[in-house]
Amino acid sequence: MGVWEAQVLPRVIDKMLGNEQMAKVRSRSLAGLHGVVVEIGFGSGPNVPLYPEAVTKVYAVDPSVVGRKLAAERVVASPIPIEFIGLDCEHLPLPDDSADSALSTWTLCSVPDVAAALAELRRVIRPGGEFLFLEHGHSPVEKVARRQQRFEPLQKRVAGGCHLTRDIPALVGGSGFEIQRVAEFDIAGPKIMSHMFSGAARNPG
Ligand SMILES: C[S@@+](CC[C@H](N)C(=O)[O-])C[C@H]1O[C@@H](n2cnc3c(N)ncnc32)[C@H](O)[C@@H]1O
Repeated sequence: MGVWEAQVLPRVIDKMLGNEQMAKVRSRSLAGLHGVVVEIGFGSGPNVPLYPEAVTKVYAVDPSVVGRKLAAERVVASPIPIEFIGLDCEHLPLPDDSADSALSTWTLCSVPDVAAALAELRRVIRPGGEFLFLEHGHSPVEKVARRQQRFEPLQKRVAGGCHLTRDIPALVGGSGFEIQRVAEFDIAGPKIMSHMFSGAARNPG
């Protein structure tokens, strides 16, 4: 990992995804999160102040050391205990059925093997538990989708492996989760990155 990806990108992400507009979108997506939660792609911890009161414990997973440093103040200030348990959500160091819910915000775009990550989440979330996600991905507008395809190789290189074209609800549903709800909407910003999926999926066990 070079200096850009290890040192600069986590700070850029912290600024870009840490503003008020994003906080509003995040808050809506976190509604219903409860109990013991696994958060993949924890990053600099922008969701920490927004966890609902029903959350009792968070297991955080992220490879970024700088992200963890940026998160430190939020983690210390959090009334909810947060424990860093690992670097890679494709391999979660947790027993089967050990979490009530899981959370991913703008992370499934960057995980190299999404199917492996989702299989791990299904393993550690108890039957009946929920996976909440807020992700950007494949645009339903053909012209934008074509542009996403064109820019994806560059995006992957400069943005930590971020894919632009992933159809997140299809990937989540295809992994065996039962989709409970999905809202699709666009936020301000470059169109290739602004189509959002905010949803909840149940682990049937
Ligand atoms: C765009 S950032 C989003 C960070 C944070 N979730 C947020 O909402 O601002 C993507 C995050 O996914 C993390 N990530 C990338 N690959 C990962 C993996 N295999 N397992 C866990 N986290 C990963 C990155 O380090 C980064 O912190």
